[in-house]
Amino acid sequence: MSDSFAAHPPARDATGAKRGKFVTLEGIDGAGKSSHVGWLGDFLRSRDRRVTLTREPGGTPLGEKLRACLLAEAMHPETETLLMFAARREHVAAVIAPALAQGDWVICDRFSDASFAYQGGGKGVDRRRLQILENWVHGEGASQPCEPDLTLLFDVPCEVARQRIALAGRHLDRFEQEEAQFHDRVRYAYLDRAGKHPERFRVLNGELSFAEIRAQLVHIFTDLT
Ligand code: TYD
Repeated sequence: MSDSFAAHPPARDATGAKRGKFVTLEGIDGAGKSSHVGWLGDFLRSRDRRVTLTREPGGTPLGEKLRACLLAEAMHPETETLLMFAARREHVAAVIAPALAQGDWVICDRFSDASFAYQGGGKGVDRRRLQILENWVHGEGASQPCEPDLTLLFDVPCEVARQRIALAGRHLDRFEQEEAQFHDRVRYAYLDRAGKHPERFRVLNGELSFAEIRAQLVHIFTDLT
């Protein structure tokens, strides 16, 4: 994948106002993405950017209630998909679109690529249904379209991710409890999606040290800011 963006969105909108960028972080459970979210926010703030840090599922009071349900309750994969996108619709309306409109950078720990990877790749939900929901909630057909400008995919082999989760020794949520093959399917669905959207995806080797990953992030974001 190239180091520069094929399709830079303009830094300012039609009225000349400075436009924030929408950055999403993705990866299988245990890939290490969440460890970098706060650091990324501090890095951007040190460059005089206003930053909104958020996550999915969640990010709004309603979304956090849906998250608690999604991480704990057994349900049909399509129910799960609809709830993920319902939480996302609220998130776009209440947090993401308003923050971008006022020029913030939005750093979101997971977004729709996670639905394609987990519900599509992991659970076999028909991708055409996912595309309909994506288009409805934040694609071209949405009342508040917002596509990520940049998606950082933290990629690690599933065995490495599983070892990290086991070492953390905490309670496992419903997704983390899935079998190894499930996480393999999720991983390959992410890589497939990265291959289909090379203009916005950057795939990072999640096995590198924190320092090495942060050096790469500095490089990517220095290009972008
Ligand atoms: P995450 O917050 O990354 O987990 P953790 O707090 O353990 O780091 O995400 C919670 C889980 O939700 C994760 O296992 C992936 C899953 N998920 C989906 O299955 N589909 C989605 O669309 C999203 C956003 C998350």
